[in-house]
Amino acid sequence: MRLARAGQVPHSLFVEQIINVASHHAFLPSRPVIRPRRTIQTLCIFFVIASVNVAQAQATLRVSSPDGRNEVSIGTRDGAAYYSVDRSGKHVILPSRLGFAFRGVRALGDSVRLQSSTRNSVDTTWSLPWGEVARVREHYNELRVQFIESAVTHRQFTVAVRAFDDGIGFRYEVGDAGLGDFEMTDELTEFTIADDARAWWIHANVPRPDRYEDLFSASPVSNLDTVQTPLTLELQNGVVAVIHEANLVDYAGLNLAGRFESRTLRAALAPWADGVKVRGRAPFVTPWRTIQLADRVEDLAPSVLGLKLNPPSRIQNTSWIEPMKYDGIWWGMHINVYTWGQGPKHGATTANAERYIDFAAGNGLRGTLVEGWNLGWDGDWIANRNGFSFTQPYPDYNLPVVAAYAKSKGVALIVHNETAMGIDNYERQLDSAFALYERLGVHAIKTGYVNDKTPEGHAHTGQYMVRHYRRVLETAARHGIAVDVHEPIHDTGERRTWPNMLSREGARGQEYNAWGGEGGNPPEHETILFFTRMLAGPMDFTPGIFDILIRHGSAGVPRTPEQPRPRSTLARQLALYIVLYSPVQMAADLPENYAGQPAFKFIRDVAVDWDTTRVLAGRIGDYVAVARKTKAKDEWFVGAITDEQTRTVDLSLSFLPNGRHYVAEIYADGPNANWRDNPESIAISSQAVTSATRLRVRLAAGGGQAIRIHAAP
Ligand code: NOJ
Repeated sequence: MRLARAGQVPHSLFVEQIINVASHHAFLPSRPVIRPRRTIQTLCIFFVIASVNVAQAQATLRVSSPDGRNEVSIGTRDGAAYYSVDRSGKHVILPSRLGFAFRGVRALGDSVRLQSSTRNSVDTTWSLPWGEVARVREHYNELRVQFIESAVTHRQFTVAVRAFDDGIGFRYEVGDAGLGDFEMTDELTEFTIADDARAWWIHANVPRPDRYEDLFSASPVSNLDTVQTPLTLELQNGVVAVIHEANLVDYAGLNLAGRFESRTLRAALAPWADGVKVRGRAPFVTPWRTIQLADRVEDLAPSVLGLKLNPPSRIQNTSWIEPMKYDGIWWGMHINVYTWGQGPKHGATTANAERYIDFAAGNGLRGTLVEGWNLGWDGDWIANRNGFSFTQPYPDYNLPVVAAYAKSKGVALIVHNETAMGIDNYERQLDSAFALYERLGVHAIKTGYVNDKTPEGHAHTGQYMVRHYRRVLETAARHGIAVDVHEPIHDTGERRTWPNMLSREGARGQEYNAWGGEGGNPPEHETILFFTRMLAGPMDFTPGIFDILIRHGSAGVPRTPEQPRPRSTLARQLALYIVLYSPVQMAADLPENYAGQPAFKFIRDVAVDWDTTRVLAGRIGDYVAVARKTKAKDEWFVGAITDEQTRTVDLSLSFLPNGRHYVAEIYADGPNANWRDNPESIAISSQAVTSATRLRVRLAAGGGQAIRIHAAP
């Protein structure tokens, strides 16, 4: 670990009684069928264990996870509502405040008593149409506690807590008494961390990183300023905790504000332009505040806590939503081979798009992305955000012809919609654009939101934008379109309800290796992403750069180690397909850079949809090794990456079924490979393996290893 900026410390409704099982098994006509909100599926196991009037009873109630290890306490202290969290008897969150502040009305939560409580338990298992795992067991104990104000107003709210074996979630359900239309100025939820845990953080509420595109730092929690979630914390008592949120709908995105020399983090919601955090009308329900809990960082992934706290799928027929690998007219713009706008280097011409489609069709990639096809890119497109058309192509790009060509080749055309945060401009065109794409047989788009705020000044992750992202997702679903969002709102598990929410960026991706000011992402970056950002959900990182020295963009002259370029070996570029999960994975380099490269076979072979995921070894910021089993196939892939240190990791293949014989195709760093002087050296070999095999995996500085394991012939 070379902690990028180590030491650089910033100062400063109701209970879902309804479980949906295997919704994706319903194959229906190609036109998407959207379930009405509250459709009920069966196979729900739901018990109401008790309902207790606690007006006179003790002031603290507790609920534990099914394995008894995670425990949430909730009650009142000095008249204020609070909660705390323990794992295996160790404190994680010390008593912490709950409540809200509103404009023009008294705060809610600081002068209350417990009124009543109910308890439930649920144990059910459901399938995902696609994912890093195929099935999810949703098993929890729930406690719902109703608070009532002691003062004259007698406003009420309920805190619903669900305790799972992998963490806890709680949310507020606020009744309408005395609130009506409201403007929330703050959510008062606090998280007082039990000790001065090491936090892995990126800034929030500052310009560029508002899109989550910052390098991670680590520091004691008592040194944090305002940071993004998921926030991963390694407590001194050994517990690992990840604070995040789930089911973010019509509310503001959650950030966490530290106070210098305090271990208390406060909910810091991203604001509207006028500073209000959330506008609404009571009754209302907040997103879940989640704390994933584990004893070892290796147990954090696969992370499905957030999925369990989102409603079941609203899309009945998901057969058109296809996990896939794709190529695209994309990296060429980032390294100045092409332009988005018109001119001699315009990338999105009909002929070039057809060339990329041919490359995809010939290499088992199921999609082709085309950026820069539509009017609006000429000049300063970031400033001219209202100039984009989402239906009109440039004269040298024939959209219907390209769409028909893609279809004839069995390739999905991925249409790009960059908004530059011109939200009104995009929303005005949404229906007509998506109707056009649907007519052309387009089932996937990539959206983009390059800019810090909306023209009106609303935050990138505030309620205004949360509403927008959701509107796009739901409109897309109605038109049979899946979405990959760049500069998104962070993932809060919406893919369970809307499986057309395929992937998103929401972190520093590969593009920073083309032009990032600091010379590209440091080698430790992805070893941190795995234990932080990736716990929220899939990321469209866009791996697979083979011309690592980027000679192609510089008239054949290799870039120096100080210039922006992937700080990665070639084998590591392959390993990223396994380490950084996404149902859509790009073969990001120019097709010509894959020509004659034996290593490209791995990209052709690698799966994008998984039955199961196992973390084999890892340490945040140092290294990680992950195994994933291909969906419905006797095939596994292993990906391992390290930071700037060379290391050897001993991996047991005991995840393989006993008694069967397999072949491991190994893509390893070459003997003298390292990211700085010799990044493209790769050693490809194969060997017989079984579940008893231990592989000594040698990783070069900035290196990695990718392995495909399939049944021996
Ligand atoms: C930033 C996105 O992350 C990138 O993928 C895209 O090419 C540019 N914006 C232009 O939309």
